[in-house]
Amino acid sequence: MSLEVFEGEIFGLIGPNGAGKTTTMECVEGNRVPDKGTIKVLGLDPRRDAHALRQRIGVQHQEAQLQKRIKVWEAVDLWRSLYDRAVVDSDALLARLGLEPKRNAWFMTLSGGQKQRLFIALALIHEPEVVFLDELTTGLDPQARRAIWSLVTGIRDRGTTVFLTTHLMEEAEKLCDRVAIIEHGRIIECGTPAELVHKHCPERAVVFTSDDANVAQRMARVGVVVGSNGNASMYTIVGAGDDFVTDVINLIAREGIRVRGFRTEMPTLEDVFLKLTGHGIRD
Ligand SMILES: Nc1ncnc2c1ncn2[C@@H]1O[C@H](COP(=O)(O)OP(=O)(O)OP(=O)(O)O)[C@@H](O)[C@H]1O
Ligand SMILES: [Mg+2]
Repeated sequence: MSLEVFEGEIFGLIGPNGAGKTTTMECVEGNRVPDKGTIKVLGLDPRRDAHALRQRIGVQHQEAQLQKRIKVWEAVDLWRSLYDRAVVDSDALLARLGLEPKRNAWFMTLSGGQKQRLFIALALIHEPEVVFLDELTTGLDPQARRAIWSLVTGIRDRGTTVFLTTHLMEEAEKLCDRVAIIEHGRIIECGTPAELVHKHCPERAVVFTSDDANVAQRMARVGVVVGSNGNASMYTIVGAGDDFVTDVINLIAREGIRVRGFRTEMPTLEDVFLKLTGHGIRD
């Protein structure tokens, strides 16, 4: 694989289970030795310059644990002591992550979301220039997920480069400036989410309900009319291109078709992902 992450962007590595996301990330962090190839992070070699690099990057691992009875403030204190450079105001960091009320709590008493936020805090404690987040929101509820998304965009807006992995296509689409899709250890596509959708899934659909006669026949002029889900008055018209939705609207207006409900279905990064990586379940 060959990929470049630009300074100041949120870059997402997305791929099915076992595709090699964590492996790749660990090689880039300097925690795993690649069989071959060249990796440069902030101009440094992750193996040869491991110490210098660790001072400048932050890492949140996919699976991590701390001692059961270490308190939140103790973990933060311990992590601070590992870095030579000036560190952030840890109270402010805990407050930003909503962990202030948990300062004195044992690690084992934290919820999944609180643990995850603590690991993100530990990855940010020394104001790293690049932060690696491996599956940052797995297992979290929608509230915690959204809180973490805004935290990550906040980190990026303050100038930190973010390299993350995720299975959640909604997360990748909302959060990432660019994504790379990885499959069996190879990069099969790379670009902004919008570019990938435009390139691989130009199809879109219009769904509406109408009791007028011969609607399907008339709609066949602008797109393909597909099954109506057992509801005889509901129509789904599939077409491609930027003009398709306008064409359907124009036809409805021109023919004076009475429409009760109307919505569009636009393709998402998830559609691209499934199209490129297939529907089979992975190990
Ligand atoms: N380039 C590669 N060549 C051969 N084996 C690889 C390669 N990359 C990863 N593997 C192997 O594939 C397995 C899964 O890799 P990894 O943990 O990186 O997947 P992942 O994409 O992070 O999956 P998950 O989404 O489940 O976290 C591991 O056994 C790893 O050693
Ligand atoms: Mg992984």
